[in-house]
Amino acid sequence: MSFLLTDKRILLGVSGGIAAYKAADWTRRLRKEGAVVTVMMTRAAQNFVTPLTFAALSGNRVHTAMFAPEDAEAMPHINLGRNCDMILLAPATANTIARLAQGLADDLTSAVILAAQAKVLVCPAMNSAMYQHPATQANLARLKEFGYTVIDPACGELACGDQGPGRLADWEIVRQEIIAVLTPQDLRGQKVLVTAGPTWEPLDPVRLLTNRSSGKMGYALAAAARRRGAQVVLVSGPGSITPPAGVEVLPVVSAQEMHAAVSQRGPEMDVMIMAAAVSDYRPARYEARKIKKGTPDAALALAANPDILRELGERKKTARCFPLLVGFAAESNDHLEEGRRKLAAKNLDLIAINDISAEDAGFAVDNNRVTLLDRNGAVEELPLLTKEEVAHRILNTILRLI
Ligand code: C5P
Repeated sequence: MSFLLTDKRILLGVSGGIAAYKAADWTRRLRKEGAVVTVMMTRAAQNFVTPLTFAALSGNRVHTAMFAPEDAEAMPHINLGRNCDMILLAPATANTIARLAQGLADDLTSAVILAAQAKVLVCPAMNSAMYQHPATQANLARLKEFGYTVIDPACGELACGDQGPGRLADWEIVRQEIIAVLTPQDLRGQKVLVTAGPTWEPLDPVRLLTNRSSGKMGYALAAAARRRGAQVVLVSGPGSITPPAGVEVLPVVSAQEMHAAVSQRGPEMDVMIMAAAVSDYRPARYEARKIKKGTPDAALALAANPDILRELGERKKTARCFPLLVGFAAESNDHLEEGRRKLAAKNLDLIAINDISAEDAGFAVDNNRVTLLDRNGAVEELPLLTKEEVAHRILNTILRLI
C-alpha cells in the first residue's frame, strides 16, 4: 500500500475526447491511493462519460456549469482552483488547450484554470493530425511558458483508427508526474549517495558468489531522494532495474569496486545510504581460466571483503564534519537487538532493519517491512509498505536528523 497521495486534493478537469473514459479509471486509482478527487467537466466531455459516473467514482459532486444558481455563493470558478493541491487536465483536447493558451474563460474548466494558483498538469489526447498541427503545438508551447507541465501523449493506434502520437499518456507516467508535482523539494541542495543491489564476487570467468538482492530498495531511495530535489549518486551492483531519471549512476560489480567508488565520492556527500547487500566474502583466489571438474570434494577458500559502512563509521569518529550515515540490516531473528548492535558498532546515524523472515517483504519483492532506529535511540516500526513509500519514510527521518 502506498500513501504518497494520501489527502492530496486533486482537481480533475475532463474535456471532451474519447479518452474521457480513461479519466474515469484514473479517478478510481487516485482515490485508491488516498487522494481526494473533485471533477469538473466541459460540456463536450459529458457526451462521452456522464457526470454521474465521475460523481460515483470520486465520491464528490461533479462541477459542470459556471452559472449554476445553487453555486452562486461558492463561486466555483474561483474556489475550485483555490481549494486544491493541483489540477490535472485529462484528457486535454485540442480545443480546451487552445482556449487555455488564449486565456479564454468562457466555461467552468477554462475559467477555473485561469483563476488558479495551483500547479497544472496537462495530458493531451487527440487525433495525431490535430496534435501535430502547428496551432496545437504552438498552444502547448504557450502552456509550458505559463508554467504548466505537459505530459506528451503516447504513440500508437488511436480510437479513430489512425496511428501516431495522440493517445492519452500511460497512467504510470502520469502518476509519477502527479507525485513529483505534489512532492516538497525538501532535499534540495543535499548530495545523497546510495548503494544498491548485490555484488558479484567472481571465482573464475564464468562463476561468481552473490546473493538474492534485486536492488529495488536502493533504487527506490535514489528515485525518492531525486524527486525531493537532492543531487543523487547511485553506486549500483549488477541488476536489471532501469535507473531513475536524473540520477548519476556508477555501475560496479564487486565489493572492492563498490568500496573504491564510495571512497572516491563519499567526501563530497551530505548523506550516505548503504542499501547494497555487499558480499561479506570473496573467493580468496580468482582463477583466470574456468575451473575444471575434478576431485569429488572441493573447498573454496574465502577472503573477507572490506566492510564499507564500518570503515565510514570509523572515519566519522575523528572527522570534524562527516556525511550522515545510514545503514541497512537484514535480520532473520532478534532484529531489534541486532540493529542496535550494528548501529553502535558501525557508528551510524540511522539503521533500517529488515525482518527477512517475513515472506511478503524483503528480498526481490516490491514491499518491505522496516524498523527504523536512530542514533538517539528512537524506534519507528513501519507497517508493510511499498519500497517507494519506505524510501520516503526513511528520507523523512533523515531530514529530521540532518
Ligand atoms: O553487518 P551487515 O553486513 O549486516 O551490515 C549491513 C550494512 O552494512 C548495510 O547497510 C550494507 O550496505 C553495509 N555493508 C557494507 N559493506 C560490507 C557489508 C555490509 O557497506 N562489506
